[in-house]
Amino acid sequence: MKIVVIQGPNLNMLGIREQHVYGPMKLEQIHAQMKDVAEQNNIEIEFFQSNLEGEIVDRVQECFGDADGIIINPAAYTHTSIAIRDAISAVSIPTVEVHISNIARREEFRQKSMIAPVCASSIVGFGPFGYHLSMIGMMQILNEVKAAQEAQAAGQQAPQA
Ligand code: DQA
Repeated sequence: MKIVVIQGPNLNMLGIREQHVYGPMKLEQIHAQMKDVAEQNNIEIEFFQSNLEGEIVDRVQECFGDADGIIINPAAYTHTSIAIRDAISAVSIPTVEVHISNIARREEFRQKSMIAPVCASSIVGFGPFGYHLSMIGMMQILNEVKAAQEAQAAGQQAPQA
């Protein structure tokens, strides 16, 4: 099983940018914690950060046929990017959206996510801990997908009445 973690613009500035909103943790520290969880659960994990919308679209597309799950914080593109939404929809891979802050409680322009409707789940407002929650949620989703695939395979093997 493989999870790809995609981080949008300015998340490389975590630990520096608006600490009262995003906290003091750096992106590398968040990723190190996610990597630990992945290793403990025998899951392959890759991390990608970009400030460019097209690069994020490319990375989502590269997940097709390669990744079993996507965890994404599209950052500011959350509120504007039909291109990232379409890419997630196109690859049809279970995707969990994460926001460090509670976007529902912030400026009006942040309250709408273009991405949420094509995601299995959205985790908002837990600070960096939201990434840990996204790992737990994603592992649950992957277990359910695996169980459904096994059940389907077993059904196909069952003798016809
Ligand atoms: C964010 C929320 C976005 O509105 C903002 O543009 C970000 C970070 C979050 O994680 O809370 O860059 O996605």
